[in-house]
Amino acid sequence: MLRSTFLYLSRQPSIFKFVRRNRLARAFARRFVAGETADEAIAAVRALNAKGITASLDLLGESVTNEAEARAAGDAYLDLLNRIEKSGVDANVSLKLTQMGMDLNEDLCVDIVGKVLVKAKKMSSFVRLDMESSAYTQRTLDLFGNRLYPPYSANVGIVLQSMLRRTSADVDRAIAQRARVRLCKGAYLEPATVAFPDKKDVDANYITCMQALLERGNYPGIATHDERIIQETIRFAKEKNISADRFEFQMLYGVRRDLQEQLVRDGWRMRVYVPFGTQWYPYLMRRLAERPANVAFIMGNVVRETFSRKS
Ligand code: FDA
Repeated sequence: MLRSTFLYLSRQPSIFKFVRRNRLARAFARRFVAGETADEAIAAVRALNAKGITASLDLLGESVTNEAEARAAGDAYLDLLNRIEKSGVDANVSLKLTQMGMDLNEDLCVDIVGKVLVKAKKMSSFVRLDMESSAYTQRTLDLFGNRLYPPYSANVGIVLQSMLRRTSADVDRAIAQRARVRLCKGAYLEPATVAFPDKKDVDANYITCMQALLERGNYPGIATHDERIIQETIRFAKEKNISADRFEFQMLYGVRRDLQEQLVRDGWRMRVYVPFGTQWYPYLMRRLAERPANVAFIMGNVVRETFSRKS
């Protein structure tokens, strides 16, 4: 019930206009968002790198409504890659195709993302295409498989969501293509016709897909905070003699920082997804939907930090 409420709120731009002006809400967002500017995001990556953690930077934003906005988002990613190159931080980028105009015109989207990929290729970097709701799954995989992956195979990868019934077959296709996959559970509200309604099935599907990707995939990203799945991944990797450099764990900025650092201490690779930018509202609502207890948790932090500044 709370999950659907937060996911509903994530799709209400008028509420965001109101929320963004509120200082408390901005402080609230800081737990999961590295800041509103690229400088703040690079500083957050530096701090992660100092702990042996790599990053994927995400300029927040989705579903642009005109070509100028889509091109501006593409330019912002070019600027971001330049900053990564100049600062020397260990980070790649993640982007959403609707932010690059996929809903407006697919040729426009390919043109914009193509420019980002040219730059990524020049600097031997990597661009992850985030996966959005199931309405976009096939279009994202088609654009990737037919137009973006062939010329930039070493520099672009996809995300697959274990909550979707189709994902096991998509994992097999990605393995056959040698495409790099980030595996996550899926953050969107989906109908039972396309997604498993029961969390048990989402988790079981995650483990099946994780095992296929670890054994036969190309450097998969195991993106989860679920300790049981993480332990199962480690057990499976050890059993099959899959070394720590053949995959990486991935987590979200601000989530399970203790576990992120522990996995690095244990010798596993960890990449943290670092979102930043002014469009943080839908992202924050999805994080609250995953764990409504975060509302109390972040409020506690905000109050504690406010009092410690005063004292
Ligand atoms: P699950 O939700 O079962 O949580 C397991 C445990 O993790 C919880 O019990 C809690 O301890 C902790 N936890 C999880 N979420 C938390 C939160 N928000 N705050 C605090 N603790 C939390 N989704 C998508 O649809 N498209 C995408 O492209 C991506 N990209 C992506 C990248 C990366 C690096 C990650 C880690 C995740 C994504 N996601 C995503 C989000 C993903 O689909 C999923 O919604 C979240 O990761 C939460 O699922 P878990 O696998 O962590 O399990």
